[in-house]
Parts: sequence; structure tokens; C-alpha cells
Amino acid sequence: MTLKATALAHPNIAFIKYWGIKDETHRIPANDSLSMNIGCLSTRTTVEYDNLLSSDRLILNGQTVNGEGLHRVQRFMDRIRLMTGQPLFAHVTSENNFPVGAGIASSASAFAALALAGTAALGFDLPERELSSLARFGSGSACRSIPGGFVEWRTDPESSESYAFSIAPPDHWNLADCIVILSKAHKSVGSEAGMRQADSSPLQEARIKDSGRRMDLCRSAILNRDFNALAEVTELDSNLMHAVMMTSNPPLFYWHPLSLGIMKTIKDWQNEGLPVTYTLDAGPNVHVICSQEVMGEVLHRLRQITGIIDVLKGLPAGPARLI
Ligand code: PMV
Repeated sequence: MTLKATALAHPNIAFIKYWGIKDETHRIPANDSLSMNIGCLSTRTTVEYDNLLSSDRLILNGQTVNGEGLHRVQRFMDRIRLMTGQPLFAHVTSENNFPVGAGIASSASAFAALALAGTAALGFDLPERELSSLARFGSGSACRSIPGGFVEWRTDPESSESYAFSIAPPDHWNLADCIVILSKAHKSVGSEAGMRQADSSPLQEARIKDSGRRMDLCRSAILNRDFNALAEVTELDSNLMHAVMMTSNPPLFYWHPLSLGIMKTIKDWQNEGLPVTYTLDAGPNVHVICSQEVMGEVLHRLRQITGIIDVLKGLPAGPARLI
């Protein structure tokens, strides 16, 4: 019997960001977050267990991976072994369809696909909630790439379980994410290390305290398809997270001067009446969210900006799935 499965998952972009960990052991986030899966971009991962192996192997985009990249996957596979009670090691082969090192976080789609393929290969058909809960141990945001469409991840102070769930399917709202690539360099401080120092910012407490209000505003904006309301809360939340990053000790400046230039340009376009907004993760690339009706116009305008490397487009996408 072959113990093998292949899964596909999409990255996601958070309108309300996760930044800070309340309980490191159980990977419980400091605040709730809300995101949209980004279609067109995906990670496809095959897991094949092999009783001849004495440790897990990883091939990423055709290259054998060793060092910390491999160890992170091995720690995650250890969790699957613990959860399922089977001792086998595996060949993990993973490919992203988006440019390697384009500065787009692939950890969300990577660990969502690995959670699904790694458990399905052993014959486990886990409920979405359990898969999401498992995926968060690879990367917090990965739990939001398990369900489809528009997804919430709630922090539950009473529970060591924490999982994401869908609040609306991908076809609920015809939004688009035009991802402006400004740098292909790997960030010097990864999100896991960066958010470990979030509490050193005097602004983090206020950011967390207000997060429930922002979640409510964002959820209503999505459920009512109210673009202006979504734009207002999305920009506020991204600006708040970057304010915390910049005021952490040591300070973290993830954005570039051109990232700020694009944010200001987006405000000008909004004033012209274009339904467009921005959000930035832990990196300089700008996610420009707009209605699909104006996506052609927005892409055209973005591509005129001097200094950008590329603009990728993503539409709301479904859940992680076996293929
Ligand atoms: O879960 P991680 O380690 O990929 O961190 C995600 C951090 C942000 O992308 C900045 C915010 C988010 O909620 O996706």
C-alpha cells in the first residue's frame, strides 16, 4: 500500500492582521484575524511515507532543502506523527506556482498543503477544523488557508485549540488582490521572529485592545460587500501593525520608501473615486485590493509606477484540497 497524497492550497492576505503570540506552546495568537485566500497563486505538496527513511526529506521547487527550512518541516511532520500515532518518515515534494523569492509569503499555503497531504497520505480524513488547527503550528496564518474564501481565525482564551473558519465563500464578493512586487529579497527578520518582539512596542497593547472592534467592522464590510468600509479598516489595521513593528525593540522596518509612495498613490486614486485600498504584510510588497470591475485599470496604473518589479493578480479562492 502506498502512503501518498498530494494537496493544493492558496496563500491568503489578511485584512485584519495576526501579529503577536499569546501562548507560544499552543500557538495561540494575540488577536483575531480575517483574510481572503488568494487564487491563481498556489502551493502543491506531495507527501509519501517511506519505511526505508530515517528522517524526512524535502524538495522545494525542484531543489533539495537542508538546514532550517528542512527542520521546520520536520518539526511539523513530528506533530503529524504524534497526532496520528504512526512513526514513518516521508519524502515531501512541494512546488509554488508563484516566483520563488518574490517576497510573497509562501508559508501559509505551504503548511496548509502539508497538513492536508501529510494526514491524508496516512488515510486520515480530518474535519476542516482539525486540519486548520494543525496547520497553525507550521505557520499561524496557514490555518486560514485551510477553509475557503473569506476566513476568520479567532483566539480563544479558554482553549488550547485554535482554528480558522470561512465566513463567506470565494464567490461572495468579486474582489481582486493586485500584488505589487518591490523586492525579491528574503526579509532579514521572518514574521515568527518579528512578532516575538511585538510586545516590546508600547503600541501593541492598544492595537490588541481595539482588534475586536476592527474585526467587527471588517466582517460587516465583507458580509455587506461595502468596499469603503473595508478600505477604511484594512488600511487602519495594516498601518497599526507597521506602527507596532517600527516601534518594537529593535525596530522593524519591513516597508521600502516606494511602499509608502504606493500607499499615498492609492489614497489619490481613492479620492478620484476608484474602489481601491492597500495592505502590507511583513515585507515591502503592497497588496492592492480592488473590485474586479476596476482590476484592469488598477493593474494598468500600477504597472506605470517606476521602480516596481512586477504585479501579480489574485482572485478570492477556495479551500485547501486534495488533488
Ligand atoms: O503566520 P505567519 O508566521 O506567516 O505570520 C503572518 C504575519 C502577517 O502576514 C504579517 C499577518 C497575517 O495575519 O497574515
